[in-house]
Amino acid sequence: MNRVVRLFSTAGIALSLLVIATIVLLPGLAGAQAEDDGQTVYTTNCSSCHQPDGLGIPGSFPPLSGNPNVQDAAYVKTVVTEGLSGPIEVLGETYDGVMPPFASLSDAEIDAVTAYIQADAFEAGGGDETLEPGDAATGEAVFLGANRLENAGPACVGCHTAANHQSLSGYTLGPDLTDLAVRYGGAEAVAAALSNPPSATMQPLFDGAPIADQERADLAAYFESISDAKISRSPVDLMLAGGVIGAIILFALMLLAPRSRKPGFAEQLRSQR
Ligand code: HEC
Ligand code: HEC
Repeated sequence: MNRVVRLFSTAGIALSLLVIATIVLLPGLAGAQAEDDGQTVYTTNCSSCHQPDGLGIPGSFPPLSGNPNVQDAAYVKTVVTEGLSGPIEVLGETYDGVMPPFASLSDAEIDAVTAYIQADAFEAGGGDETLEPGDAATGEAVFLGANRLENAGPACVGCHTAANHQSLSGYTLGPDLTDLAVRYGGAEAVAAALSNPPSATMQPLFDGAPIADQERADLAAYFESISDAKISRSPVDLMLAGGVIGAIILFALMLLAPRSRKPGFAEQLRSQR
C-alpha cells in the first residue's frame, strides 16, 4: 500500500517537473526558431496581402519586392507594429489602403521578416493564383454559416457583422466587414487576404481549416456586392427587438394597471352565508 502511494507521488513530482521545464523552455525555443526564419513569419503574416512572390496586388497591396522603402529597417518596423493607412506611392503606383498592426510579433520576428524582405528572396511565381469567379449569394450563405465551410472552419457571422446582418446585442469580436472590399481595393484582394486571414484571432481557428478557394471567391463577391450597403438592422432583428420592447411595455402596464380586487375564497364563503 505504502509503496503504491510512494510510487504515485514520485510519478507526480516527475510529471510536474516535466511540465515546469516545458513551460520555462518552450518560449525560448520558439524565439530561437523565429529568429532565423523570416520566411515563416512572412508566410504566416504578410504573404496573403503582399503575396508569396512579394509583388503585392496592384492598386490594393503594395509590392515589397523591389520596393526601395523596405531598405529602411526602422520604417518597416514602425509599419509592422503600428500598421499603415493613407495614400502612399510605391514604384509609380498609388496605394490608399489599410494595413493592420501586428502587435503579436516579437522584435526578433520583425527583424527576421525585415531581413527576409530586404534580401528580396521571395518565392518565385506563387502570387498569381486564378480563382473561379465568385457568387455573391453563395458568399452570403457562407458568411452566415447557412452553407457550412468545406474545411469546417467557424462561420464568419459568429464574430463579424456585415451590411444588414448586424448583431442584436451590438457586440461582436471582430470588426464590421461591410466596406471590406472598398478598403482592400476590390474582390481579388479580399479573396487573396482570406487565404490567410490577417487576424491573430482567426489564424489559430483557420490554420487547420483553411477557407476553400471557391469559398474565398464567393465571400469576396459577397463583400464586393455589399460594399456600399447602408448598415441597417435586418427585419428579423427588428422583430426580435420589437418583441422584447413590447414585452417590457406589457409587463409595465400589468404592474401599473389598477388591480380589480377579486374577493378571496373566504370572503366569498362569508358573503354566501
Ligand atoms: C491585410 C493585408 C496586409 C497584411 C496582412 C500585411 N500588409 Fe503590409 N501593407 C498593406 C497595405 C494595404 C499597405 C499600404 C497601406 C497604405 O496604403 O497606406 C501596406 C504597406 C506595407 C509597407 C509599406 C510599403 C511602402 O512602400 O511604404 C510595408 C513595409 C509592409 N506593408 C510590410 C508588411 C509586413 C512585413 C507584413 C507582415 C508582417 C505585412 N505588411 C502584412 C496590407 C497588408
Ligand atoms: C472567432 C471569431 C472570428 C471568426 C469566426 C471570424 N473572424 Fe474574421 N476577425 C476576427 C477578429 C477578432 C478580427 C480583427 C483582428 C484581430 O483582432 O485578430 C478579424 C479580422 C478579419 C478580417 C480583417 C478585417 C480588416 O478590417 O482588415 C477579415 C477580412 C476577416 N476577419 C474575415 C473573416 C471571414 C470572411 C470569416 C468567415 C470565413 C471570419 N473573418 C471569421 C474574428 C473572427
